[in-house]
Amino acid sequence: MKGLILSGGKGTRLRPITHTSAKQLVPVANTPVLFYGIRAMADAGIDEVGIIIAPETGDEIRTAAGDGSQFGVKITYVVQDEPAGLAHAVLTAEPFLGTDPFVMYLGDNLLQGGIGELKQAFESSAPDALILLTPVPDPEHYGVAELEDGRVVRLAEKPPEPRTNLALVGVYMFTSAIHDAARAIEPSARGELEITDAIQHLVDNGSRVEPHIVNGWWKDTGRLDDMLAANRLILDTIQTRLDGELIESQVDGRVVIEAGARLERAAVRGPAVIGAGAKLTDCYIGPYTAIGDDCVIEHAEVEHSILLAGSSVRNLDGRMESSLLGRNVKIDRGDRQPRAYRFMVGDNSEIGIL
Ligand code: G1P
Repeated sequence: MKGLILSGGKGTRLRPITHTSAKQLVPVANTPVLFYGIRAMADAGIDEVGIIIAPETGDEIRTAAGDGSQFGVKITYVVQDEPAGLAHAVLTAEPFLGTDPFVMYLGDNLLQGGIGELKQAFESSAPDALILLTPVPDPEHYGVAELEDGRVVRLAEKPPEPRTNLALVGVYMFTSAIHDAARAIEPSARGELEITDAIQHLVDNGSRVEPHIVNGWWKDTGRLDDMLAANRLILDTIQTRLDGELIESQVDGRVVIEAGARLERAAVRGPAVIGAGAKLTDCYIGPYTAIGDDCVIEHAEVEHSILLAGSSVRNLDGRMESSLLGRNVKIDRGDRQPRAYRFMVGDNSEIGIL
């Protein structure tokens, strides 16, 4: 069995972060989202992994994931020239996939418990496709499935009036039958070849499509609130490890402090991770916070937030929370007159002030 991870896509719902970086590389608990998918493959014993990349962000993804040796897999990169849909991505990867069965994993998804059990279910009952489903409160934002007698009978992509609350999770198991199905369908209203339509095509032609209901949590990290939720879920699983330098500082709960980080008169209440080279001085870091490498926090309180590498937060009167800062963002109190808010922020930024 091969693995296919989709890491193209524009990440419009995470702008401005995704103006300069691929959404699949935004870190959850200081590890790029994409790496959780690659590890899930490796843990399930899948060692040939194809990664679909877009021309704009592909180089960054190649640099981060490399040849896969850091994960114990062999990675082949496949460039998808245009974001023409998930079924189009499958067709683009056909030369890599050949006639092998494969697991397809959306690179911005996180699935608790990995895919080992699913792979086993797929191999033992040998359907033409196996899809993962989970009940959600807002099915209109996802692909939605309808079941009858334990079989999938109907699928719809983001239906305005969903007939069930069972959302398609971004992990799928396919036989090579999916290639012909992807060739047979027409682009959807949003102009994409939808994988949901290709699976419906399999159903319509009498192929066996089995559902698997996900028991653990699942997160599509496409939006800020989902990123923060994913960060909470992963941070809830960390073990304390204090490799950095602590000077007159207090650490409570489960906290990882990487080597080269320096804390002086800082209080950290976990779960939290502090990246290598971070400098935390006279500050408070509250639960569910991931501070990236080389960040600086001084005279400030930060909680329930994700800070990417190289950012700094200084001299805040109020506590910062539920925030996502990109790389090298600077937040500080200005001392020049007139006393005023001063911003230089990118397109699509959002700022909430006291
Ligand atoms: C895609 C699929 C959708 C699925 C979702 C899961 O949507 O088209 O069927 O439910 O992933 O994350 P997208 O996030 O690309 O809009």
